[in-house]
Amino acid sequence: MESQIQQTLHFPQIDRVIRREGNSPEALIQILHGTQEILGYLPEEAQLYIAQQLKIPPTKVYGIVSFYNFFTMKKAAQHVISVCMGTACYVKGSGLLMKKLQELLGTKAGETTEDGRFSYREVRCLGACGMAPLISVDGDIYGRTTPDALPEILQKYTDQ
Ligand code: FES
Repeated sequence: MESQIQQTLHFPQIDRVIRREGNSPEALIQILHGTQEILGYLPEEAQLYIAQQLKIPPTKVYGIVSFYNFFTMKKAAQHVISVCMGTACYVKGSGLLMKKLQELLGTKAGETTEDGRFSYREVRCLGACGMAPLISVDGDIYGRTTPDALPEILQKYTDQ
């Protein structure tokens, strides 16, 4: 089975991430981050491929992916909301934004809404701390966001 996977799968994008981060088990989390940035999620095939390349058991990769909630195994939704949980945003209330999104969308972080339209996730500092707390939707930045502003922001994307 393993040799079959080795023969049939090839992920040049993941190869590039592994080259950049280093082909060693210690680099696993960074490799998973880099892979998710490219693919938008971490499908089982990609996890198996990474395990093979690092020569570690697939269960170890799966264990890490399922432990950290910034990793997702589900395909990204049509619109991806990133909530900055860096220090500046966190102290200005980004936790409340996460809570409000959960209430509005009825899903947990990393999950996709049933209609496939939205998912939201925590991210590290987005590099615009002066606008804290901020979220991005498909790369559009919304600074000094409040929980009350979220329905209107979501509505813009619901109509698309
Ligand atoms: S902490 Fe949120 S942008 Fe830096």
